[in-house]
Amino acid sequence: MKILTFGQTGQLARALKRVQPKTAELIQLSHQQVDITQPQLIDEALAFYRPDIIINCAAYTDVEKAQINPVAAMQINALAVEYMAKAASNYGIKLIQLSTDYVFDGRSSTPYSVTQKPSTINAYGQSKLLAEETLLSYQSALFCIVRTSWLYHHSGNNFVTTMLKLMTQSHNQQTIGSSADNPIKVVNDQTGSPTMVDDFARFLWKLCSQKQWSAIYHWSNAGKCTWYEFAQEIKTQGIALGLLPQSIYLQPITSEQYASIVNRPAFSVLDTRLSHTLAIPKPWQQQLAQCLNELVLSKV
Ligand SMILES: NC(=O)c1ccc[n+]([C@@H]2O[C@H](COP(=O)([O-])OP(=O)(O)OC[C@H]3O[C@@H](n4cnc5c(N)ncnc54)[C@H](OP(=O)(O)O)[C@@H]3O)[C@@H](O)[C@H]2O)c1
Repeated sequence: MKILTFGQTGQLARALKRVQPKTAELIQLSHQQVDITQPQLIDEALAFYRPDIIINCAAYTDVEKAQINPVAAMQINALAVEYMAKAASNYGIKLIQLSTDYVFDGRSSTPYSVTQKPSTINAYGQSKLLAEETLLSYQSALFCIVRTSWLYHHSGNNFVTTMLKLMTQSHNQQTIGSSADNPIKVVNDQTGSPTMVDDFARFLWKLCSQKQWSAIYHWSNAGKCTWYEFAQEIKTQGIALGLLPQSIYLQPITSEQYASIVNRPAFSVLDTRLSHTLAIPKPWQQQLAQCLNELVLSKV
């Protein structure tokens, strides 16, 4: 099985490499090698490598910047996927397109199923939804869409690494003020499912081994929390593992208090049940523990 990923340096592309099965061949093309907004580069890459499956790990993922520059987000997240679909279809190559919980508006209070109609509330979500609609319009058994949420790892740029950094800094600043005077403010009115990116990558490898695909999959770790509750858990586990100091002060805030130009869904938990035949998601707290343990081990 030969798998090609567009995107090499991103969070998911790296995870696919880390958990790559021995039986699979993995070709990863960086942004420098193939800019996916250039259709002829996509075509040349597919003609040259002739993979069985493409996993599109390339995306414009900065939600704040996408709001300021929606054209760039559309070009990378939607238009490029159209080029990819066309080329993949011509060569008869299967394509897994990654998508997001942000295609939903967050008005639900129960997990979103794959049959629920998306409705977006920000430019990033709109660009990802347009890509979904393009792929679905092919009605092709070669294509599938996989939505996930709140990806993290102990390396790279994500909520966990940001929190670990802030929590360490907050402690260091205690020489000039108590942590209670300088709390880390975290949004407490957005609920989702944190997902350890290696778990998600393992799910994708399982999906690659399937002969037939559904049109849309949902997969995340199990359970739900707010960003504030996620931060609390990072703090508790980080202290227990000796990664963080005892005195860290977190303050829950509302989305309104968090200075952002982006509307984010208040509730974006995905109903993953139809994907459980491939991989049963483990509780997010347990997988956070695994991730932080790996961080501890990487330091010895
Ligand atoms: N991160 C999350 O929490 C999350 C949640 C739900 C869904 N997703 C989806 O999961 C997928 C993977 O996300 P991720 O977190 O791995 O993203 P990421 O870490 O931001 O990586 C994105 C990758 O895309 C590459 N890229 C950007 N523009 C490109 C272009 N024009 N041509 C080729 N490559 C380009 C980037 O390369 P350079 O850095 O070199 O530009 C980078 O390697 C995305 O589709 C995202 O929408 C992510």
